[in-house]
Amino acid sequence: METSQKSVTDIRFVCRGTFVHSTAEEALQILEDALLGVDSKGKVFLLIFCISCSEFFMPGMIDTHIHAPQYSYTGTALDMPLLQWLNTYTFPVESRFQDLEFAKKVYTQVVKRTLRNGTTTACYFATIHTDASLLLGQIANDFGQRALVGKVCMDRNDSVKHYKESSEESQEETYRFVKELLNKKYPLVKPVITPRFAPSCTEALLAKLGEMAKNNKLHIQSHISENLEEVEWVKELFPNSESYTDIYHKCNLLTDKTIMAHGCHLSDEELVLFRETGAALSHCPNSNISLCSGVLNVRNVLNHKVKLGLGTDVAGGYSPSILDAVRRALDSSKVLTIQDPEYKTLSFEEVFRLATLGGSQALSLDERTGNFQVGKDFDALRVNVAAPGGPIDLIQNEKPQVISHMRLSSLTCPLAGDDRNIVEVFVAGKKVVPFSEP
Ligand code: GUN
Ligand code: ZN
Repeated sequence: METSQKSVTDIRFVCRGTFVHSTAEEALQILEDALLGVDSKGKVFLLIFCISCSEFFMPGMIDTHIHAPQYSYTGTALDMPLLQWLNTYTFPVESRFQDLEFAKKVYTQVVKRTLRNGTTTACYFATIHTDASLLLGQIANDFGQRALVGKVCMDRNDSVKHYKESSEESQEETYRFVKELLNKKYPLVKPVITPRFAPSCTEALLAKLGEMAKNNKLHIQSHISENLEEVEWVKELFPNSESYTDIYHKCNLLTDKTIMAHGCHLSDEELVLFRETGAALSHCPNSNISLCSGVLNVRNVLNHKVKLGLGTDVAGGYSPSILDAVRRALDSSKVLTIQDPEYKTLSFEEVFRLATLGGSQALSLDERTGNFQVGKDFDALRVNVAAPGGPIDLIQNEKPQVISHMRLSSLTCPLAGDDRNIVEVFVAGKKVVPFSEP
C-alpha cells in the first residue's frame, strides 16, 4: 500500500472501489475495495484498502497510433491493400483539411468519441496543414484529453495534387507547428515530429526532422514495415540502406521518444535496433487485419524487450476504441497459435497491460500516466462491470472460489463491453466524461 502525506486542503477527492491496473511485476493487479486519493494537482497520493464496495476503476487507455482526419472516413479500409487505400481515400480526404471549419468538425468528433471510449491519452497524426494541426491540439486541450499531436510531413510521392510540401516548407511549417503548440502551454498536449513514412519523405527531409527532434527533445512518430508491398517499395526508394529500420536510424529518428506503427514485417535484427535505441512499436491489429497487412508477432517483440502499446490506427482500423484493439490483439495472437501450436498466445492480462501501462511506456509518458502508482496523474475510467442480469448478478451467492472467478469475469466484462460500460473518464484528476458542454 502506498501513501504520501497530504494536508486536507491538498485533497481534491477520494474514490472508493476496486482498482485494477498493471505494474512492472504483475500484468494484472487487483486492489479490491480500496481508497484512492487524488490531490489538488490531479495526482494519486494515497491507495489504501477499505471494506466492501462496488465501484470499479481501471487506468485510462492509451491509443498510441490514431489518424484524427481519417475518422471522417472510418470503415473504408476493408477491401483494398494499404497503398491503394492511401491513394483512393486517404490522400484525397486529408487534402481537405486546409479548410479549418471542416477540420474543426471532424477533430471535435474524434476527440469526443475517443474520450467516451476511454482513451485518456491519444497519439495523433493530423495532416500536412499546420493551422488545422494546431486546432487539433486546441480541441484535445479543451476537452481535457492528454495528447501528442503531429503535423504530417511529406515531400514526395504524392498521388493527389497539392497534398505534398516542398522539403523547405515541410521543415519550416513543422518548426512553426512545434513552436506555436509549445507557446500555447497546454498542460496535456505535446507536439510530435511526424514524417508520414519513408516513402513519403526524401532522405534529406527525414534527416532534418531527426535533427529538429534531437535539438528540441521532441517525440517522433511514423509507420514502419506495415505491408510487404510497402517494404519492397522502400528497398527501391532507399537502395543504400540496410533495412527499413536503418533508414530511420541513420536519420536520428529512432530514439527513446519514438513510436513507430505496425512493424509486422521487421526482422529480429531490426527489433534489436529498436531495443538498443529505446524506440517503441504501436500494435494496430484491427488495421493490420482490415488492410490484410500482416499479423504482428507480439511475443517476439516482447521477447526482444521492445516497448509496445496498442493503437486503433483509425481509419486503417475501423474502430476508435482501444477495447476493440484489446480484442483484436487477442484474436491475432490466437491466429498465430492456430498456425503454430508452439506459439504462446497472449493472455488477457498481458493485453490489458499493453492497453494501459505498455502504451504509456511506448509514448515515454509513464512517469505521468499508465497505472495508479502514487505520484502519477489520475487518468482513470470508472466502469460498470455488472450489467443487469449479467454473470455477476447470477453468481453473487456462490461459494468463495466461484466469487473469485466472478472477479475475473468482472474484469473481462468491461473489455467485452464498449463505451456504454464506461461511466466516467478522468484525466489528471479532472472528470472529462460525461462532457460538460459549454
Ligand atoms: N502508411 C503511411 N500512411 C499511412 C496511413 O495513413 N495509414 C496507415 N495504416 N499506414 C500508412
Ligand atoms: Zn497509421
